[in-house]
Amino acid sequence: MSNGFETLAIHAGQEPDPVTGAVVPPIYATSTYKQDGVGGLRSGYEYSRSANPTRTALEECVAAIEGGVRGLAFASGLAAEDALLRALCAPGDHVLIPGDAYGGTYRLFAKVLSRWGLEYDPVPLGDPDAVRAAVRPSTKIIWVETPTNPLLGIADIAALAGIAHDAGALLVVDNTFASPYLQQPLALGADIVVHSTTKYLGGHSDVVGGALIVRDRGLGEELAYHQNAMGAVAGPFDAWLTLRGIKTLGVRMDRHCDNAERVAELLLAHPKVTQVLYPGLDGHPGHEVAAKQMRRFGGMISFRVAGGEEEAVALCGRTRLFTLGESLGGVESLIEHPGRMTHASAAGSPLEVPADLVRLSVGIETVDDLLADLTEALG
Ligand SMILES: Cc1ncc(COP(=O)(O)O)c(C=O)c1O
Repeated sequence: MSNGFETLAIHAGQEPDPVTGAVVPPIYATSTYKQDGVGGLRSGYEYSRSANPTRTALEECVAAIEGGVRGLAFASGLAAEDALLRALCAPGDHVLIPGDAYGGTYRLFAKVLSRWGLEYDPVPLGDPDAVRAAVRPSTKIIWVETPTNPLLGIADIAALAGIAHDAGALLVVDNTFASPYLQQPLALGADIVVHSTTKYLGGHSDVVGGALIVRDRGLGEELAYHQNAMGAVAGPFDAWLTLRGIKTLGVRMDRHCDNAERVAELLLAHPKVTQVLYPGLDGHPGHEVAAKQMRRFGGMISFRVAGGEEEAVALCGRTRLFTLGESLGGVESLIEHPGRMTHASAAGSPLEVPADLVRLSVGIETVDDLLADLTEALG
């Protein structure tokens, strides 16, 4: 029997507890497990850095909803990225990274892993020819975000998978902005999916976490070895909260998309807005590719305002329902100024973002209230 997305989100890895029948997997708040004689492990559990049943449930669930064979849960999205890169790359290797990416991802390459000898080049992922031209013999990974954070750029996952594989490299897709409900990178040819589960998977702004999902068992084993060897695992309570969030991912994403479409329309028609960046709009340069590889276009919108940086910053302070804050993907709407907040670490780099840019994470509140809040704040 093959199950649909929502069925997997609610049930995968979450069989009722065999002893008590509990429908929801318990939070296994234990660091160690009684052994039945030395080496006599019950169900494979020996120490909770290596494995914990609540984390196993989350790992099986994320693997199922991304269409992979193995999932691994980490303490944060960046911990997942770090484990991936240090597991699969060595000093002297080269990675192509997005010309527009989450600032923390850029910082990991620029300030941490470059000191360790990992080389990287930012490339415009929307231009497959430019990506192909930037590949070197030492390129190990092409790292993709689509849509990108914060400019909502779109990359053609299938085309980039072809380029990576021709070069003997792996294609990694950060699927945080889309979520597996809207986009399935492994089915499009990606080798590894990365998530900040802090965002749409958790969905309620109450937990920080990360995940890796793969479609090759050998690669899964290699990453799992490093997950244990490096140790930045998700704790059982965090795993439990994330699993709870994932159950409603499909219905939440549909409402995020409904609301974002209305907000994009409002911004597009507003005289004080100079540009709206949302892949659902016909005029977006990545619209056709997004329509091909995404179910819908997501809940993230960025826009530029007349009045420059000063007005963008002031606007972020004038909304009432859109809360001024970092992060995204929760049920509540957020507003932020990427240049001074989430992407401050990219200032002065090729990934610096425009100063007049405002980013919205459109939540699932009553849409008319969101539209009224923005209308009042824009003036
Ligand atoms: C697209 C993307 N990838 C990765 C991360 C890093 O995840 P975390 O904050 O959970 O470490 C973020 C965080 O904002 C993000 O937006």
